[in-house]
Amino acid sequence: MSALDALRRSRTRSAVPDAGRPEGRHLLEVSGLTTRFDTPAGLVHAVNSVDFHVDRAEIVGVVGESGCGKSVTIRSILGLVRPPGRVVDGTARFNGVDLLALSGAELRRLRGKEIGFIAQNPFSALNPVMRIRRQFAKIMAAHGVRSEGEAHDRARAALADVGIAGPDRVLDGYAHQLSGGMAQRVVIAMAMLLNPTFVIADEPTTGLDLTVQRQILDLIRAMVKEHERSMLLVTHDLGVVAQYCDRVVVMYAGQVIEHGTVREVLGTPGHPYTQALIRAIPRPGQPLVHLTGRLPDLVDYPAGCPFQARCPHAFDPCARVVPEPVTTASGHTYRCHLPQEKEAVR
Ligand SMILES: Nc1ncnc2c1ncn2[C@@H]1O[C@H](COP(=O)(O)OP(=O)(O)OP(=O)(O)O)[C@@H](O)[C@H]1O
Ligand SMILES: [Mg+2]
Repeated sequence: MSALDALRRSRTRSAVPDAGRPEGRHLLEVSGLTTRFDTPAGLVHAVNSVDFHVDRAEIVGVVGESGCGKSVTIRSILGLVRPPGRVVDGTARFNGVDLLALSGAELRRLRGKEIGFIAQNPFSALNPVMRIRRQFAKIMAAHGVRSEGEAHDRARAALADVGIAGPDRVLDGYAHQLSGGMAQRVVIAMAMLLNPTFVIADEPTTGLDLTVQRQILDLIRAMVKEHERSMLLVTHDLGVVAQYCDRVVVMYAGQVIEHGTVREVLGTPGHPYTQALIRAIPRPGQPLVHLTGRLPDLVDYPAGCPFQARCPHAFDPCARVVPEPVTTASGHTYRCHLPQEKEAVR
């Protein structure tokens, strides 16, 4: 059984509808995105010239181990990086508009209305001292819904959409009265409230038990696919990528080291890091293969390939020269010197 088949056991994935997708134009196109944190220890190279895109009606996964820059990438796109962090270069075009060039007020208008954000920790996204009802009303008021009656009806409908049976009880309560799964449903309802065309979810099921994780991810996917929305889904879990995503972006040390369709990247991974991530997936009857070593120091950022110190195939140019991207005809791309080396030997 291939790694991809193993991941897909008893899982289904809906096809990406092609209809209505304008030629040659992506919904989100991130290019050269670079974010630094100016800390007492030095300049942290958190996100380094990141390029990727999301098309209409597709779910794109972002994977990579802890600290590789997934959250900083999406926070950069959403204008949520705070000092000492700063986006120092790049563009993030959403429907052709560069989000990085917008004012704070313009971005706030777009967030919520056109881009829904589901944060990693639902309790950090909810106000602990404000009733849930008031939090819904505030989001709607910020986007022009001033009637209390309408705000109430829409909040109830949004909670019903995420499977909350007693919406009034939830609306009258506070965040601390909710379980983790319920809190995440409330945050999803808030993110979807204004019917955004694009959803960004940062590890939306961290800390939830496996059954609830599955329920929440199924719910998010249904809401995204039903309305032909698009989604960027950040996750640690390649199993989640295999089940829920159409394409995947693999990050390492703040760089995109591989991207392509889920079938290509998980079925025929090009980068040794992606190969190692796939080998580290637990499989029944097979010994666990741990990914050894650590991410490089993001202050003293390595020259050449950032994975070189952990790579079993590293050879002469890897420590000196940044690998050029290798791209197949279908657009599967990875940054590694090995294919060029094999080509040269042939
Ligand atoms: N406020 C900050 N100050 C300094 N460095 C930071 C700050 N926030 C993030 N970083 C740096 O950016 C890097 C990327 O962090 P990020 O939160 O994007 O990782 P991640 O891939 O989302 O990890 P996780 O899977 O654990 O959520 C971190 O390794 C850290 O060095
Ligand atoms: Mg994160």
